[in-house]
This record gives sequence, C-alpha cells and structure tokens, in this order.
Amino acid sequence: MDLKGRVAFVTGGSGGIGSSIVQALAMAGADIVVGFNGNSAAALDVCAAVKTLGQQSDAVQIDQADSGAAAAAVDRAAGCFGRLDVLINNAAWNTGIPFADLDALSVEIWDRIFATNARGPFVLARAAARHMREQGAGRIVNIASVAGLVPAGSSIAYACSKAALIHLTRCLAVALAPEITVNCVAPGLVEGTRMAARIPEAVVRMVKEQAVLKRTASAADIAQQVVAFCRADSVTGQVLNIDGGVHFH
Ligand SMILES: NC(=O)c1ccc[n+]([C@@H]2O[C@H](COP(=O)([O-])OP(=O)(O)OC[C@H]3O[C@@H](n4cnc5c(N)ncnc54)[C@H](OP(=O)(O)O)[C@@H]3O)[C@@H](O)[C@H]2O)c1
Repeated sequence: MDLKGRVAFVTGGSGGIGSSIVQALAMAGADIVVGFNGNSAAALDVCAAVKTLGQQSDAVQIDQADSGAAAAAVDRAAGCFGRLDVLINNAAWNTGIPFADLDALSVEIWDRIFATNARGPFVLARAAARHMREQGAGRIVNIASVAGLVPAGSSIAYACSKAALIHLTRCLAVALAPEITVNCVAPGLVEGTRMAARIPEAVVRMVKEQAVLKRTASAADIAQQVVAFCRADSVTGQVLNIDGGVHFH
C-alpha cells in the first residue's frame, strides 16, 4: 500500500513509541489521527510536528478500556479526514508488580490491563475493519512486547495481555483477509519512554548485556517496521521482535 493520501489512526500517539510511529507514517505521506488518553498537550505537540512535515493531523481522545468509547473513537478518527486506511494499536497500560508477588496482582489490575491491552485492540480493529472493508483495503499493526513471548515484563497480567495481542494478530489476519493485513511488532525495552522509566537501572544493564547487539530496542526501528508492514501487500499474521537481538536463539 502506498501511504500517500492515506489516513492512519495511531493509538497512544501521544506516547514515546507512538510519536515515533506517527512521525514515520507522516514522512511516508499519510495523514495522521493521534489517539491519546489523558495527555492532550503531548497529542497536540505531535499533531503540530506532523503538520510541519506537510501532512494533515488531528487528535482524538480515547479510553480504550471502555469498549463503547473505543468504537466511537474509531468513527471519529475516520471522520477527521474522511477515510481510515491504517490502524496502529500502540496504546497500552501497565504497572510494575513482581511476578512472585501474586497477591499484589489484584483482579481489578488484571482486568484493567486486559481491557486496555487486549480487548481494546480487538474492539478498535473490529470498528476500523468496517471502514477499511468499505474502502476495499486496510492495514492493522499491533504493538505487543517480547513480554508476550517469554515470561518476563512489568507484571504477569501485562505479559499475558501481550501474548493475547500476539495471537489476536494471527486470528485477525485470518478473519480480515484478503482486504486487510494484520501484523505485529514485539519490542524489547525501549529506553527514554515512560514505560522504561519504571524499570530499575540494573535491569536495563542486564537487558543490554543479554542482547547480542549490546543495545536496547530503538523507537525509530519500531516505527520503520510499522511503515514496512503497512507498505507490504503480501505479509500478514507476522510478529517481528525488535529487541537488540535477545529473543531469537
Ligand atoms: N517502552 C518500552 O520499553 C516498551 C517495550 C515493549 C513494548 N512496549 C509497548 O509499546 C507501546 C507504547 O509504549 P510506550 O513506551 O510508548 O508507552 P508510553 O509513552 O507510556 O505511552 C503509552 C500511550 O498509551 C496511551 N494510553 C494509556 N492508557 C490508555 C487507554 N486506556 N486508552 C487509550 N490510550 C491509552 C497513553 O496516552 P496518554 O499519554 O495520553 O495518557 C500513551 O499515549 C505499548 O503498547 C507498550 O506496551 C513498550
């Protein structure tokens, strides 16, 4: 798919990785709807940056843990520039709970993480697919985590929600073919993001030591892979790890 003249809705576009994805899609020629939850100032900054690249941009508030609000936000996003070609399911929520502390992982936290990170992307994809099918084509890229592939990450619930998102990618690739492709990027630790700021320095050092490239994941590389998945016409149901080379051997 040539991204020129297309419209992309990037959830969590106000965040660290999301703003890199927004920039890369805009540089590829797409107009961008920036999804945000609470940080409207950051979302407006990201929209302004898109406009300096010569593309149109608008911001849409969304709490994707609320299914009704999520579906309505997709319709508002499609209304911004009259179409919707690309959905990037990038937004997520987490909180740090050591795996061994099972009692600290309450049912309320479990449900919030799953509602935001797994059910939300499903509801958003379902709503977006209606617009994409009407137009005859579409692209969905989910941002999961290597925590969905190995038993690690900020909490058991977060890891399981990302495993669900990875399998949702494959299931939706079947469900939405042939008009819509569905792929997934699974990042490792990305330094400089709000999520990474909650991780102790010793863990960051350990992650770098484990990586064959001796570095953490780059938001720019994640963004470029998102663009590559959007451009590709014969790739669907795929998960690509971007993690400095930790989780392939
Ligand atoms: N950073 C890492 O090391 C890392 C590693 C692996 C995977 N990931 C994944 O990469 C993606 C982006 O993470 P990030 O590091 O860029 O995090 P971030 O900077 O904290 O951004 C999270 C984004 O999600 C939005 N969001 C949070 N709760 C939401 C909700 N209920 N409804 C809608 N939007 C909501 C936030 O909106 P507001 O700011 O407007 O509230 C923000 O834009 C996430 O899926 C994360 O799991 C990150």
